[in-house]
Parts: sequence; C-alpha cells; structure tokens
Amino acid sequence: MRVPFSFLTEQFANPEPVFDKIREFLKRCDFTLGEDLTVFEGRYAKYCGTKHAIGVGSGTDAIFLSLRALGVKPGDEVISAPNSFIATTGAIVQAGARPVYVDVTEEMTLDVGKVEGAITEKTRAIVPVHWAGNPCDMEPLLALAKKYQLVVVEDACQALGAKLNGRPVGSMGDAGAFSTHPLKPLHVWGDGGVIVTNSDTLAVKLRLLRNHGLAGRDTVDSYGYNSRFDNLQAIVGNVVMDSLDATIDQRIAHAEKFDRALGDRKFFSCLRVPKRDVQKKHVFHLYQVYVQKRELLLGFLNRHGIEAKVHYPTPLHLQPAALGWGYSKGSFPLAENQSEFSITLPCHQYLKTEQVEFTIQKISEFYGL
Ligand SMILES: Cc1ncc(COP(=O)(O)O)c(C=O)c1O
Repeated sequence: MRVPFSFLTEQFANPEPVFDKIREFLKRCDFTLGEDLTVFEGRYAKYCGTKHAIGVGSGTDAIFLSLRALGVKPGDEVISAPNSFIATTGAIVQAGARPVYVDVTEEMTLDVGKVEGAITEKTRAIVPVHWAGNPCDMEPLLALAKKYQLVVVEDACQALGAKLNGRPVGSMGDAGAFSTHPLKPLHVWGDGGVIVTNSDTLAVKLRLLRNHGLAGRDTVDSYGYNSRFDNLQAIVGNVVMDSLDATIDQRIAHAEKFDRALGDRKFFSCLRVPKRDVQKKHVFHLYQVYVQKRELLLGFLNRHGIEAKVHYPTPLHLQPAALGWGYSKGSFPLAENQSEFSITLPCHQYLKTEQVEFTIQKISEFYGL
C-alpha cells in the first residue's frame, strides 16, 4: 500500500466546475480586482469572523504587507518563532525589520511566557505562528502587546479554520495572514494570500498598498506594490470554499485516529504525541509527533511506501541566511528538539482510513511493539 504525502493530483482531478465558471468569466474579463475577488473576500471575512478580508499575492505578502501597513520599518525588531517556514521570517526581513526569535513550547507554538524577555525598545511587532494548524496562546500574547504597544500579525498561513476558545485564528491580532497555496485546504491554482482584519483604517491602507497605492485610476495616494489576488484565482477559491469544512473535518478525523493509536502507553518509550489543548481547534495542516530513532523510522516508513517527512530539519535561527542575527545551536532548545526528533505523517483529506491504519501498523512494527 502507498501512503503519499502529496494529494495534488486528486485535488485537481475534477476541474470542470472551475472551467465552467472561467468560461462565464471570459465574457466579463474583469481580470484585476474583479467581481469574483469581491465575493471571495466577503466569504473569507465571514468564515474568519472579521470585518474585512483583503486578497493579496501570497501568504508571504499577507504578512509583509500587514507589517508595512501597521508601520513596521527598517531598524524595528519583530518577535517570532524559529520553527516556522522561512516565509514568516522572510516577510519580517522584507519589511526591513530584524527577526527576534523566542523558543516554542512542546506544542510547537510560540512560548508566550518567554516573549516579554525578548522585548526591547526597538520591538514593534509580534508575529505568532499558528504552526501546523494549532492556535498559539493568543490571550496572554495580546495582553503583552497591549502593555508594550506592539502590533500583532498572526501568521495563520497553515491554520484556516483553527479556533481558540471558539475564536477563529487570524481574527484576534491586528491582522491575520493566510496562504491559498495549492497545499492549503482553501487553495487556488497557484499563489495567493489573504489578510483579515477588523480595522477599517488598516483595511483601507492594505487595499492601497496591494495596488500601487492607487486611490483611483489616476491618483497615487502613497507608494505601494503590485500584490493583488488574481481574479481568476478567486474563481477557483470560491469553488473550493464550498468543500472547505469537509476537507478540514476529514483531516481532523485522521489526526484523531493517529492520536488515539499513537497516544497508547505501548509507545511510551519511543514516540510522543504533542499535548493537545481542548480549548484549541487544531486543523492539522501537518500531523507531527516526536519520535526516537527518527532517521531510521523515516527510512523504514519511506521504504514501505509511507511518505513521512520532516518539517523542518534545520530551524530558522540555524539557517545560513540567519548567521548575522547572532544565534547559535542551543539558542532555542525546544525548536531544535522539534527539528531533531519530530516526524510528519501523511494526514490529508484524500487518505483512506486503511492508509492511516497501515501507517500506525508500520510504526508499531518498526519499534517491535
Ligand atoms: C507558516 C507559514 N507562513 C507563511 C507561509 C507563506 O505562504 P505563501 O507560500 O503563500 O507565500 C507559509 C506557506 O506555506 C507557511 O506555512
């Protein structure tokens, strides 16, 4: 049996509903900031429980443009997590700021208890990452942000649909950034990103920034970028949104099956499921556990057709690009522990229960259980 990590061929196997809509669209041709985008943004904001959603060119741009619009400038410091995808740090650096890392918890999200110690006179923003689809502890983080007058941009690129005490991720900070990359549950046929916010002022600024700062056809209000969400992609997004909840529910169902089996005491000495918090709705963009003999297990699973992976073998503070920030091995023990001991198992919406069971069976076999 094969248990693939990628699901792109299945995901794009039935493009007809999208093609039908594209044929209709070609009679209108409003390619730039068109009608479908307006509909998509409205539905996205409703899904996240926010007043506004602004479509932009990518999830990376969603973080970068939010930071820019919130006044982050060269010389500022921005606190974030060292265990994210490079885009989180990339967006901070693109805004001209210096990334300041704070370690994560065993849950793999920012250790909020350590944030205050990293705040300096130059700190201007915090970018918590809802890593793997698991919400960060936003409440104490927002209290700190208020105390020190910092802005908060949630990196929710992996976490659409996740909730903390019933509140959707992305809706709690000043802005929430999402990605619609093909690997995300609400994907399009290429790159795209969305910013959600409850602030009218910020929404206006972001709409200007993503479109050259144009206040109208002939008036440039301030200098901006070309980072528009393509109207063609909004057509795709609107179709995909109809099945979003079913996709998320299926991923959660597989993850719960893994949790029940791998959380069993028999795995005690060789595998650990991260702590799950009942106040958090985790949407499992990635299903990760901590394991002993990681490289051997990875090879064993791969040889048996199970495409397990690692996210990521090198944390951000130990990347060659990060040399100038002054960090070294040992700076963030829990993020480093995640890099060394975590494994990501295939857990997507196109897997059958038998494939999840096969994976569990092979892990048991590897450890001789
Ligand atoms: C945590 C995180 N932040 C940001 C991004 C950037 O999103 P995009 O690829 O749409 O630019 C990603 C993309 O995978 C991500 O996983």
